[in-house]
Parts: sequence; C-alpha cells; structure tokens
Amino acid sequence: MPLKLTSRSLFWLKVWMHGIGLTPIIYLFLTVFNGNAGGDPVQYIIHYTGIGALNALVLTLLISPVARKLKLGALLQTRRLVGLYVFAYASLHIMAFFSLDLLFAWRMFFDEVTKRPYILVGAIAYLLLLALAVTSFKSVMRKMGRRWQRLHNGIYLIALLVPIHFYWSVKSEIIEPILYFFIIGWLLAVRVYQSKLLKHMLDK
Ligand code: HEM
Repeated sequence: MPLKLTSRSLFWLKVWMHGIGLTPIIYLFLTVFNGNAGGDPVQYIIHYTGIGALNALVLTLLISPVARKLKLGALLQTRRLVGLYVFAYASLHIMAFFSLDLLFAWRMFFDEVTKRPYILVGAIAYLLLLALAVTSFKSVMRKMGRRWQRLHNGIYLIALLVPIHFYWSVKSEIIEPILYFFIIGWLLAVRVYQSKLLKHMLDK
C-alpha cells in the first residue's frame, strides 16, 4: 500500500532536513574555533565544505528513486530544500578558497580558474548550480514553462562534473572520488532505467 505524507509530517520532515543540513556547518565552526581543524585549517575547511556539497548532491539525486520506491510523491517537495543546501555548501567551499586561501585576490582566482583544469570544472559546476538556485522559485518555474525542466536537467551534468573535479583535485588518495563516481553512476543509471520503464508503461 502506498505510504502517505500529510502536510504536517512533510513540514516536520523539512525541519529535520534543515537540522541535518545545518549541523555539519555548526560542527565545522566549533572545530575550527576550538583549534581542532588540524595543522592546516584552511585546507580542512575547503575539503569539509567540498565534501558537504557533494554529499548533499548525492542526497538530492536519491530523493526521486526513494520517492518512487516508497510511492511517496510528496517527498519530491523536499528536492528544492536539499538542492539549495548543495548550493550553500558549494558557496561556502568557494568563499573559503577565495577568502582564506587566496586572500580575496580576484586576479589570482581567475588565474586559478583558467590555469587549473580541475578548478575550471568546479567553476562550471558552480555556475550551473547558481542557475538552478536562482530559478528554483515556483514563480520562475511557472514563467519558464518547459525550459525550466530542461535547465534543471543540468543537475545530471553537475553530478558528473563534481566527481571529476574531486578526482582531479586529489594527488594520490583516489579511492574516495572513485567511490563517489560509482554511487553517482549508479543513481544516474537508476534514473535512466526508471524513465525508460515509465515510457514503456505509457506507450502500452
Ligand atoms: C569556482 C568553483 C570551485 C573552486 C575554485 C573549487 C576549489 C577547490 C579546491 C581548491 C579544492 C582542494 C584541492 C586540494 O586538495 O588542494 C577543491 C576540492 C573539492 N571540491 Fe571544489 N571548487 C569549486 C567548485 C566545487 C563545487 C561546485 C563542488 C561541489 C558541488 C566542489 C566540491 C569539491 C570536493 C568534493 C573536493 C574534494 C574535497 C577533498 O579533497 O576532500 N567544488 N575544490
């Protein structure tokens, strides 16, 4: 039997999701201010927020297949919230790099983007994320019509670009980025399979 989410339980689910999204940021502040961020706190913050953005991205991609499996359509209403956390963590990640590592040197930032391919890939992913975040409002969605869905399919491109950015940024520890490639590859394959299945059912 399909499960049902009332608007009250959806509200509390969203409150929980905000809690899950905000707790790692509070933890990061406490870790840094208590001096527990290791020998290189700047690198620690850049890595922590980058991984936070990637984990939130994986969660965003998980919502649709889980909603389908549990027949919980209302769960899809949480996608915007989780998607905005991807954007928030990615913004913190870039701000940390720009302010703490490059000390607000714009020229150096543009040099990094043009000279280091992994930074360029990250920047493209971020620009796409920015486009999705500013068009995530219902009013914009209505105005854009079919173009909205086409633009928001950009999440799949982001899901490929971010693990590439991660893989390229590491020197030797490649196991973690490869693991993310597999997880995201599997989630994208599930989507292709589900949309083919749906098309097949509609064609019948
Ligand atoms: C202009 C855009 C971006 C810049 C300048 C940037 C910069 C960086 C830098 C400097 C590193 C650390 C590399 C090192 O180990 O020295 C890094 C790693 C990383 N970035 Fe980005 N990034 C950008 C966009 C993004 C976006 C959009 C995401 C995710 C949505 C992301 C996720 C990650 C991840 C997961 C890592 C690896 C963290 C780790 O090593 O544990 N980045 N990025």
